[in-house]
Amino acid sequence: MAEVVIVESADAAGEIAADAIEHLVRSNPRAVLGLATGSTPLTTWRALAARGLDLSQVRGFALDEYVGLPPGHPESYRSVITREVVEPLGLTPSLVRVPADSGPIETAGADYETAIEAAGGVDLQILGIGRTGHIGFNEPGSSFASLTRVKTLTEQTRRDNARFFASPEDVPQHCITQGLGTILRARHLVLLAFGEGKAEAIAGAVEGPVTASLPGSAIQLHPHVTVVVDEAAASRLALAQYYRDVYAHKPEWQGL
Ligand code: GLP
Repeated sequence: MAEVVIVESADAAGEIAADAIEHLVRSNPRAVLGLATGSTPLTTWRALAARGLDLSQVRGFALDEYVGLPPGHPESYRSVITREVVEPLGLTPSLVRVPADSGPIETAGADYETAIEAAGGVDLQILGIGRTGHIGFNEPGSSFASLTRVKTLTEQTRRDNARFFASPEDVPQHCITQGLGTILRARHLVLLAFGEGKAEAIAGAVEGPVTASLPGSAIQLHPHVTVVVDEAAASRLALAQYYRDVYAHKPEWQGL
């Protein structure tokens, strides 16, 4: 099962995720990170930036991107990743890929998979989760075998993401996202979630049946997952006390 770490705040969660990244990069300065957008990973990037590590050789692959925004749009995930991750962390821009950042959209999914493979695969994938239970932009119904491809966003996700756009109609209908199969190939998944609004999705992902109706439940198929949640996001976990006990008594040598 996933390791579930329940912490008091998003800041504390960010420190834990930053620990995992720091540990990885210290052992391999050219590590491959899977980068998530959204508000959830912000405390992780902040905690990591504060450590002043040399991350200039780290390679990065974003989880997803909107399709149909004009190049350079401030809410394209390329822009978001540049602003929130590449610049504050001192990553090298040419080493950070975003789906569909070059070439025609028809082959962008296959190209992205080839690039991830050529980099040796993702070592550590940071994940948020949407209220529909999506990871990346894999909306309910996504195949567990899916690879990077173009998808249609649900109305719920478009409404949730409308806060970043001038008007709800500006949120694109389409996106390109790493598939659940792509995500499951990463060597370590770190899933973060904060707030009551994520409680149901987290309970489903961690403890619910493994079902395409809740794409986050795909994490149950992965051998190395760390779920870091605040109390509110943990509030619907049936085994919350057990997770607390496990973490409190975790042998130090196990690491994250
Ligand atoms: C977006 C992104 C996901 C992200 C999710 C949650 O739709 N494509 O990668 O995990 O929403 O966003 P937030 O972290 O802002 O709650």
